[in-house]
Amino acid sequence: MSKFSFFLRRFHSLIAVVPLGLFIFVHFMLNSAIFLGSDAYVTMMGFMRGFPFVQVLELLLIAIPIIFHGIYGIYIVYLAKNNVLQYKYYRNFAFYLQRITAIILVAFIIWHVYTLRFADANLAVMLHSPLIFVLYVIGVLAAIYHFTNGLFTFCITWGICVGDRAQKIFAICATLLFIVMSLWAVAILLSLALA
Ligand code: HEM
Repeated sequence: MSKFSFFLRRFHSLIAVVPLGLFIFVHFMLNSAIFLGSDAYVTMMGFMRGFPFVQVLELLLIAIPIIFHGIYGIYIVYLAKNNVLQYKYYRNFAFYLQRITAIILVAFIIWHVYTLRFADANLAVMLHSPLIFVLYVIGVLAAIYHFTNGLFTFCITWGICVGDRAQKIFAICATLLFIVMSLWAVAILLSLALA
């Protein structure tokens, strides 16, 4: 691996956690306003849209990092070699699921951003359709798996978790985070659909 591709790989990994991972949490927190009722949700969305320099912040902290991570990620998926067969069965499966969820995410993020940001559709109304509800659950769960499993591989990539025991503990934490965030996301989607 050349120095340049090593740098790109590390950059791809870093921006996936900061700012993208942090953004996912903020996004979930803001959408949790629906638990307080639809008025609170509309007020929160209005506040976000009126935030000073919101478009510049969205561009610098969300759009550009996602576009870079997404495009370089597709390139990584394209390069994926089958030498992962040497790994234990579960890690091998997780490696492929990381890539499958990456492909789902490309389609989901384009659809999500186009309908809600550019076509100004109303998510609560959209979610009344059972098909859209199911597609949303798939898209959001794919994003959560990609993020939580990614957090685990990130810790290995950056040498934060080395050794068998540490990796086992981190894998359990990533799975717990996946379960908690999935329940949280489905609760938000159900509350929106029933609002
Ligand atoms: C736009 C669609 C996306 C694509 C095509 C994509 C692609 C990928 C790929 C291929 C990997 C594996 C990299 C490797 O094994 O070296 C990866 C890792 C990762 N992705 Fe994504 N991704 C996308 C969106 C996201 C989003 C929105 C987030 C944040 C919530 C995210 C967070 C992560 C994390 C944390 C990792 C692990 C980095 C590491 O192992 O060091 N990805 N992504």
